[in-house]
Formats: sequence, C-alpha cells, structure tokens
Amino acid sequence: MISLDELTVRIEKDDDFATMPHIAAKVMKMVEDPDVSVAELEKYISIDQVLTAEILKLANSPLYAPRMPITSLKHAINYLGLANIRSLTLMVAIRSLYSSAESKEVMAAFWKHSAASAVVSRNIVMGVGGVELNAEEMFTVGLLHDFGKVVLLKFYPDEYLKVVEEVKSGRRDFYSAEKELLGVHHAYVGALILSKWGFHVDVVNAVGSHHEEPDNPVSALMVLANVFCSTWDYSLVDPKYEVKFFDRALEILSIDEDKWREVTEGIKQQLEESSEILGV
Ligand SMILES: [Fe+2]
Ligand SMILES: [Fe+2]
Repeated sequence: MISLDELTVRIEKDDDFATMPHIAAKVMKMVEDPDVSVAELEKYISIDQVLTAEILKLANSPLYAPRMPITSLKHAINYLGLANIRSLTLMVAIRSLYSSAESKEVMAAFWKHSAASAVVSRNIVMGVGGVELNAEEMFTVGLLHDFGKVVLLKFYPDEYLKVVEEVKSGRRDFYSAEKELLGVHHAYVGALILSKWGFHVDVVNAVGSHHEEPDNPVSALMVLANVFCSTWDYSLVDPKYEVKFFDRALEILSIDEDKWREVTEGIKQQLEESSEILGV
C-alpha cells in the first residue's frame, strides 16, 4: 500500500516532478498575459532550439495540415495561435518525464496513450461540432489525464509494474488494480500533482474524476478518448473495461453512432500519418 503523505514528500523532493517543467510554465504564463506580443513569445521559445524544432515539426504534420510549409517559429505561432503553441510546448516539455530506469517499455506505452489521447480529445471536439468544449484545452486534458500513472511508475516502480502486469493480462483495468494493490489510483495522483503544478481547477477536476461515471462533457470526452485508444491499440487496457460508460458519453455529447464512426476514421488516419512525429 502506498502512503499519500510519503508520495507527496517524494514528489516535492524530485527536481523533475516538484514543479511544472519551467519552459511550459513560462509559456503558459506568457500566453495568458494579454500584454505579451507574438514577438516576445517567439523570442522566448526560440532560445530553446529543441522546442522550436519540435513545434515546427508538429505544425507541419497532418495534425495541423498547413496548406503551405511552415518554415519559421513566427509563422508557426501565427498559423497555430497562442493556445496551440501553449499545448504543444507542454507536450514537448513533459515528454522527457516519461522515462524510467526500470521499465522503458511501459513508459513508452504510457506516452503513446497520452499523446494519442491529446490528439483524439481535440479532434473529437473539432470533428463533432456543437460541443461546447475548447479543443485546445481538451488536448491538454487528454494529454495529462493519465499522468498519475507516470508518477506512480516513477516513484513506486516495483509495486506499479505489478499493476501493469494485471492490466496487460486483461484481468483488470488500471483503476481497480491500483485501488486493490496500492490503495491509491492514478486519477487521484494525477490531480494531486497537476494541482501542485498550478493547473486550472477545471483541468485538475477533470483528471481527478476521469474514471467516474461521466456527468459532464469533459468527462464524457475522456471516456470516448479512452474507448478510442483501447480499441485502436493506443492503450494497454482491454477495451471491455473502457466501454462501460460509452453510451452515456455519446449521449452527453449528443454524438450518434454514425458520427462517431466517421470522426474516429479521420482520427485514426491522422494518428497513423503523424505517428513518428508524435512518438506513438
Ligand atoms: Fe485513466
Ligand atoms: Fe487513459
């Protein structure tokens, strides 16, 4: 069993996990400041050449499908907009936290699920229309919804790999295996760390409740993203555990089965075409 107090202390003592990655925090702050200009943001991001290169790669990928190649950071910021730049920066910045001495393979699977969930969440919102959710915010929620798994694997590798084994065998999903074997689940741990990192309470709550029966559009969207990921091999979880709230989620978001099929076909194709860039 894991003690939450002990986990909290471990997080606070860890240089990588105690606070949000610096560059993501800074870009987030800049984007929220109405007085910040594109030139200032460009100047700040361009100091980090890796981030700049990654943003350009993503901007030119089928995910954003520019009509003309985007060759400069300034062009990328103008084309994608500040909200997109913020979420892509976060995506690039947290990717390095998906590393583990004990299990590279599991961390890679977690990354695959996170990156795919981000894209899937955003694209469902854009694809179905009429949903009152912000596509970029949902990209972030999708990206972070299972971040608690990364934290648990990082700080309790031996215990957590047992959970992973249970899930891989198809005997259980993460949520129930964690509750039984660890006494704490990844949705709670994810909300805990994201609140420490200063994320908006809406993001924290969405992450914290993503395994409960959906009663609002954001949790319904997380159900759909996870159904998609488990069905199309972007998840370690057997789809039978994810479909429990599927009908309810479609109902909340007013999506019919035909629309769902149409939207998921498009997303599948985009993910396949961008798999190398996303690392999924
Ligand atoms: Fe989850
Ligand atoms: Fe998930």
